[in-house]
Amino acid sequence: MQTQADTLYLQIANDMAGLIRAGTLSRGERIPSVRTLAQQHGVSQSTVVQAYRTLEDARLIEARPRSGYFVTARPPRLPEPDTSKPPVDAQSVGMSAMAAQMLALAHDPAYTSFGAACPAPDLFDQERVRRAMTRATQRHRQSLCQYPSGHSDETLRRAIARHAMRMGCSFDAEGITVTNSCLESITLCLRAVTQPGDVVALESPTYYGFLQILEHLGLRALEIPTHPRTGLSLDALQFALDTQPIKAVLCVPTLSNPIGSSMPPSERKRLAQLLGSRSVPLIEDVLYNDLCEEDDKRRAVKAYDTHGVVMVCGSFSKTIAPGLRLGWVEAGRWTEHLRQIKAATCGSQAVVLERAMADLLTQPGIEAGYRQLRNTVAARVDEARGLVAQHFPKGTRVTDPAGGFILWLELPAQIDSLALCRAALAERICFAPGTMFSATDRFRHCLRLGLGGQWGKTERQALKRLGELARAMA
Ligand SMILES: Cc1ncc(COP(=O)(O)O)c(C=O)c1O
Repeated sequence: MQTQADTLYLQIANDMAGLIRAGTLSRGERIPSVRTLAQQHGVSQSTVVQAYRTLEDARLIEARPRSGYFVTARPPRLPEPDTSKPPVDAQSVGMSAMAAQMLALAHDPAYTSFGAACPAPDLFDQERVRRAMTRATQRHRQSLCQYPSGHSDETLRRAIARHAMRMGCSFDAEGITVTNSCLESITLCLRAVTQPGDVVALESPTYYGFLQILEHLGLRALEIPTHPRTGLSLDALQFALDTQPIKAVLCVPTLSNPIGSSMPPSERKRLAQLLGSRSVPLIEDVLYNDLCEEDDKRRAVKAYDTHGVVMVCGSFSKTIAPGLRLGWVEAGRWTEHLRQIKAATCGSQAVVLERAMADLLTQPGIEAGYRQLRNTVAARVDEARGLVAQHFPKGTRVTDPAGGFILWLELPAQIDSLALCRAALAERICFAPGTMFSATDRFRHCLRLGLGGQWGKTERQALKRLGELARAMA
């Protein structure tokens, strides 16, 4: 079990990391000495040393001999991509063969993979997950050979409701429906509020998993211009709502995939009001909220929903344990309808899995775990941006997300990321070409790098090589 001292150094490291990322402590600036900070916080010097080591591991600070600690100089910056400009009409959806191939290879150990958008197993607290599973199996072994009752575990629903308070949502545990994954939650929401042929508005570019769901439900995608930093253009969405028969909006307001945009709080409020005033449901994916480095962007759009139009979908696939396959949805007025669809299609989850997750969510130290994950991935994303600036062709643009482990690159227009993908696969390097993230043929010159997997010499070399391959095509 973690003691207070265990988490104290993480608290100090996190506060300092926040100051660095917010720019309050600028790159290259000297930070307080160990002794000064220990006095300021009233803690031992060894606690501050531990905090500084954590920040060094995250490459946020560096020790300079006989001079003290300094904020690490940031890698050379490249400009960010512009707001996307998708077509104004809804499109029917089909996934390319290349996308299917990339998905299969993303987890193949023979490839250096930037394909998957998931942290590698060693970034999770595997031991904690294993212990929770063992406890749950021992305590609920009789459940292994019985059908679950159909209503998910109340402790888990309460734990999820408490967890959602961190996003500014006050949910009644009764209203939470536990699912197998965030994608199952989203599928259920879409089924509850749409019919085949309907139009769903989403970000552009958008997560290919959403496009696959739309394809299988026979829905049409209306891609809305999206800015890599501030997310959905609400002016464009408002225009689309005025001119198109939009039945639902599907959106990832925090750390969208693939461009990592996070809407400012004022935009979240405006989105809730815009859709509320027109009674158009918003399916809000909060999967990445705990990975965002800025507190105010972890607040869900749901927190501003005065009309009851927002359905919130989440899971623990990116922060606690993707292998437990557990997600959740708070679907407000659509809850009963959604539960009927779920009962008829997928039934409920295994009791031991739900119990283990409830255990994990209520243990102390969960917040510290999120912070650690955020710091680790932030360091490598920063490093990867530096490698891109160094090795990719002139004219490349790259996103600068407020957290998470995904980068979106816009290469010079003449580079075809499918051709680059073929060349990279021949050298056993895998990434996601831009065409996977749209129902149109846009983003041919773009690509997504998933940086949650392994990260070491091989990956740094592979990124450099990818840049060389792209340069040869420029
Ligand atoms: C935005 C978004 N939503 C949902 C998912 C899938 O989550 P889950 O594994 O819980 O279905 C992903 C996975 O990459 C994602 O990026």
